[in-house]
Order: sequence, then structure tokens, then C-alpha cells
Amino acid sequence: MTQIYRHPDEYDLEHLGDQEDIGFYLGLVRHLRPKRILELGCGTGRITLPLAKQGINYGYRVVGLENQPEMLKSAAEHQRRAGPQIQQCLSFVEGDMRSWADDEPFDLIMAPCSSVSHLHDLEDQIKTWRQARANLCAGGRYVVEVTMPNLSVFADSFSRPPRALVEIDIDNFDETAGIRLIRRKTSSYLSHQQRAQIRFLYEKYREGRLVDSYLDDFASHIFFPRELELLFIHTSFQLENTVGDYQGHPLSAHSPLVIMTGRRD
Ligand SMILES: C[S@@+](CC[C@H](N)C(=O)[O-])C[C@H]1O[C@@H](n2cnc3c(N)ncnc32)[C@H](O)[C@@H]1O
Repeated sequence: MTQIYRHPDEYDLEHLGDQEDIGFYLGLVRHLRPKRILELGCGTGRITLPLAKQGINYGYRVVGLENQPEMLKSAAEHQRRAGPQIQQCLSFVEGDMRSWADDEPFDLIMAPCSSVSHLHDLEDQIKTWRQARANLCAGGRYVVEVTMPNLSVFADSFSRPPRALVEIDIDNFDETAGIRLIRRKTSSYLSHQQRAQIRFLYEKYREGRLVDSYLDDFASHIFFPRELELLFIHTSFQLENTVGDYQGHPLSAHSPLVIMTGRRD
């Protein structure tokens, strides 16, 4: 598990200003009108809290599932600060998406932000899809989002000896704390496992001076669109919809994402 999930404040700083995915999921929920929503790998509640806020007017409840205690603690703290109305329609629970079950079924389960990429083995992926199906009522939907594999990023891994390009992929400024976070990223692709070994190098600056630096190494399973389809089909979902970005465009050669929805009959 990546180090950054042990430092939820830094996770939030990394995602500062990310609004597009939140807007997408709020819109999806307004369209589908579920009564009970489960978010798998909810982290600090970045998406869960705005969902719950919308739920006050739309009359649905949200559960955020997370297996990293530090992230869950931060989510609970955000919930506490959000006020009593949100607290009533939202709960955070500690558990593993491969096995967690609730007494009542959900009608929408979502796994945004490539959370399923932390499932490296086919066995764990199938367990997670089956468990999602078991947690859904008839007609319920399971929505999975992953980043579209970018073969140009992985191309250097195929040179001999392999090269690893380092790019700055995040440059965020937290005005309240006066902290600028710069993240450099380098990936090596292991084609036989469909796995990217990712190294994030973080630097924090205050008034232009380096105040902290750290690194985080983790592995990410690279899902291809056809593979996601097969996971849904193998676990008895009906494929309902696939889009390639947060604007809802159909999947194309230039799609940055794969957001696939399966329906339980
Ligand atoms: C990329 S973060 C996404 C967090 C949140 N959904 C968001 O959009 O900000 C992935 C999250 O999934 C959690 N996670 C990874 N594997 C998990 C598992 N097997 N069960 C539950 N949560 C898991 C991680 O701890 C992390 O918080």
C-alpha cells in the first residue's frame, strides 16, 4: 500500500482543486437516483462528502468503505466538520473491498480514482467484482473508473537498458498553509504482469524554500478496457455503459479514462 495513504493531509494536498471527477459522480447520481450508495476505497472522503451533501436534497444515503485507518480517520474528521445534516446521511466504515458485506443492499456502488488498480491479482479483482455484485440489489449498478493505459509513458520501459523518464505531474499551492507541493513521477512497466512500478518524489516548499521531501514507491495494475469488460461479464454483470472522460464522451483512441458501468439483473 502506498505511503501517501498513511499521510491523508498530503493526499488532500495532492488532489487540491480536483473537481472534475466530483462533478461527474454528482451528475451520475442525479441521473440514476439511487437510494443507497457505496464508494469503494473512499480515502479521505474527497468524493464521498460532496455526494453526501447532495444527498440531503435527493434523499439518499452514502457509505464510504476504506481499509487504511489513517485515511478513514481523516474522512471522519472531515465529516465531523461538515455538520449534522451531512453526518446523518453518511457513514464511513473500515473494511476491504474484496470481502466487505453489509446487511442492506446498495443500488449504486462506485470505485472512482483508479482505486481498483491496487488489486494486483486476478483473484483479488474477481473477489472484488463478485462482492460488489453481492452487495447490490437487483437492477443495481457497479461503476469502475481507471486511467486509460498510456503506452507512450510505458515505452521507455521497453528500451534496453530500460529508461525511466521523470516528469512533474503535480504542482499545487495550498494558500491556507502557504505550502507548494511538487510531485515528480516515474513509471516502469512490467508487461508480463500488466503492472506499473510507480515512484513519486514529493517536495514541499514554503516561500520558495524546500521544507520537506519524501518518496513513495508503489505498484499499480494496468487495466485495459477489454479486460474490464471481461471482469464484468465473468462476474455476471450486464455491461450498461462505458465513457472515456468526465464529460461522458464515448471511449476513443484519445480517452484519458475508462469509466465502465455494469448492471446486476
Ligand atoms: C486513489 S485512492 C482514492 C480515494 C478516493 N476514492 C478519492 O477519490 O479521493 C484509493 C483508495 O483505495 C483504498 N484501498 C486500496 N485497496 C483497498 C481495499 N482492498 N479495500 C478498501 N480500500 C482500499 C486506499 O487506501 C485509498 O484510500
